[in-house]
Order: sequence, then structure tokens, then C-alpha cells
Amino acid sequence: MTLRRWIAVGAVAVATAAALNVAPAAAGHRHDPATQSLRDLAQRHGLYVGTAVDMAALANAAEPRYRELAGSEFSTVTAENVMKWESLEPTRGTYNWGPADELVDFARKNNQRVRGHVLVWHNQLPAWLTSGVADGSISKAELRQILRDHITAVVTHFKGKIWQWDVVNEAVSDPWDTPSTLHYKGFWAQNLGPGYLADAFRWARAADPKALLFYNDYNIEAFGSGNPADDKTQFVYDMVRDLQAKGVPIDGVGAQGHLGTQYGNFDTLQVLAALRKFAGLGLATAFTEVDVRSQITDGVEAGDSAEINPRLQASAANFSVLLKACLAERHCLSFTLWGFTDKHSWVPGAFSDPPEGLATVYDENYQPKRSYQELKADLIFAGPPYVLPRIPQRPRR
Ligand code: XIL
Repeated sequence: MTLRRWIAVGAVAVATAAALNVAPAAAGHRHDPATQSLRDLAQRHGLYVGTAVDMAALANAAEPRYRELAGSEFSTVTAENVMKWESLEPTRGTYNWGPADELVDFARKNNQRVRGHVLVWHNQLPAWLTSGVADGSISKAELRQILRDHITAVVTHFKGKIWQWDVVNEAVSDPWDTPSTLHYKGFWAQNLGPGYLADAFRWARAADPKALLFYNDYNIEAFGSGNPADDKTQFVYDMVRDLQAKGVPIDGVGAQGHLGTQYGNFDTLQVLAALRKFAGLGLATAFTEVDVRSQITDGVEAGDSAEINPRLQASAANFSVLLKACLAERHCLSFTLWGFTDKHSWVPGAFSDPPEGLATVYDENYQPKRSYQELKADLIFAGPPYVLPRIPQRPRR
């Protein structure tokens, strides 16, 4: 064979390897895939694996493992709290950027992308805002302007540094709310009406045309009845389609992925069907806050393995369902955990009656759990023809 022919054959081989999404040649030889990080294993699929970061834990010198794992296992990070309104603007017009900037800096040093969380949500609002509205000193017109100023200030501050913004979070009610027919809930809908959603996306786009703009919510991992009166996924699907029809700049839907082993949850193909429907609207998707909690019984507390093991197994299975569905849909860009160790998980604080926990992929001593190993195995064993690399998304309008 001539040299030119060899080069041609080599080029075809490289192109074929890329098309088939093969594992790096070294895998299985010098590097056992099981010893690689989640972020490295996900890279072959073009998938970003993330975690929410607790800034106090990150800064705690007595706990170096937190910082090490946050940097080494993940390729995207989300601020667990420090980009929320009460943190960023505790006093009207005075911004506290320090902790959020620290996270952005950590991400830069570790070659990670940042999910911005969150611009508009009814929780963790500063008291000056909620009490001002409650006592009538902030009018509705002023409130709309305040929202616009906040979105503009925050998105402008982080311009160019945020990959995906959660523009609006948890706007939709649940079937157990009153009224039980699904509706727009919470502070913003009550005070501004549902039109605030379109406004928020438009203001965010104007401030950073390059960031991907997401709607983010829980209990939208799979479709249910298909009736928007009681199927939250269907409600969100219709909502997003309406926003698109109005020309509103929305690029993605984030499913939080807060699951509990007591609920049974979904199978992979149900979740995949939902991701495909959203992709059919031309949207990116992401899992943005994944954790799978369990009820903590006296037996669990006492270390009874007959009670602990089924919880760990069920948790691992649910993490795996969400990841496999994400891998199988090429517009599912990232898979973010809501914290990675049971030592720093929001679950025990938020679900105490009955107590819940065991929700993350490392235990309180930073030992990987079955769930961690399942995520790893899913990343290792996925490939063509059903799992192909992500299709990078750009803002659409
Ligand atoms: C939670 C944080 O994890 C807690 O530390 C905080 O006290 C309350 O908020 N959905 C969201 C997240 O979108 O912002 C929430 O984070 C968890 C539920």
C-alpha cells in the first residue's frame, strides 16, 4: 500500500471509530473503566454529569473529599443555593455575588460547565420582596419591574459563564394541591399572572443570547394520563408549546428527578418517551436535580441490612432508569445530581415526617454506593446503535 493509501485508510478508521462512538483504545487495558470518573465515562457520550454544590461544604478544609470529588467526578456544577434570589439580592438593589462567583471560579479551574439555578422561583425569595408585596408597598407594576431588573442584573453579571439557565422553576401545581386541577401556582403567578413566564424568558435572552434557557420542574419525568388537568408532564408540554407558538425563547426542559423508592416510579422506556416528546418540540432536555430518597425506619437507623439493602438497591435502580433514558435521547444534555454525598443532602432536612434519607450516590463517609456503581456501569456499557453522542444545542430564537 502506498503512503497515501495508508493515510486514507487511517482517516476512515478514525471517522468510523467516532461514528461508532467506540471507547478509547486504552480502556480495558491501561485504564480499567471501573476506575474512571463519571465525568470521564460520560464524555464518550458527549454527556455532562453534574452535581449541586453546597458552598459551605466546598469551603470546609476539614472535609477535603467534598472538594476533590466535586472537581473530579463531575463536568458540570449547579449552585445548590447561592444563585437564588435571597442569596444574590438580600437587600433591595444590593447584590452579593461573592459565593456564586466562587462557584463559577471553581468550575473554570476544573474545566466544568455551570447550570445557573435559578432566576424565577416562589421559594427562597428575600423578605424585602415578599413582605413588600404583602403589605402593599410594592405594587404589581413595580413587582414586574423588580423581576425584570433582577433577571437582567443576574444574567448580565454571569454573561458568557452559564451554559444552561433555569429561568423559571416549579411554576406548575401538583394534583394534591387545591384546586387539584393543575394550574400555575405560587408567588409569581398569584401576583403577576402566568404571563410572567414569557417575560422572564425574553428578559433572560436579552441579557445573554448565548445561554440555553430552561424551564425546570419536578414530577415531569414521564407522562401519566395525558390529561393536562392531572398530568403534570402533559401540562408542562402544552405550556412550552404555547410559549414557543408565541415566539418565546425557550431552549430546554429540565426534569429535576427527585424520586423516592417508596413510590415505585418509572421504567426507562416511559422516561425515554417523555424525553422524546420534548425533543420533538425542538427542545433540549436535562436531568437537573437527581436524587432517590428512602424512608428511614428504626431498622434502618439501627443498621439492619434487611431494611437497608432493598433501599439501596431500589435507589440505584431509579438512578439508572433516569440515566439510561437520558443516554438514549441525543438532546438530553446533562445529568445533574442534587448533591453527591448523604453527608450533605437536602433530603433529611426537607423530608422529616416520616424521616427520609439515603438519597445520594456516596454515603456519609464518602464511600460510593450501589447507585454510583450503576451510573458508572450504564455509562460504560452504553453505545451504538441505541446510544449515540449528544447533539450540541444552541439557543434557537
Ligand atoms: C433546596 C436546597 O437543596 C436546600 O439546601 C434549600 O434549603 C432548599 O432548596 N427543588 C429545587 C432546589 O429547585 O432549588 C431545591 O434546593 C430542592 C427542590
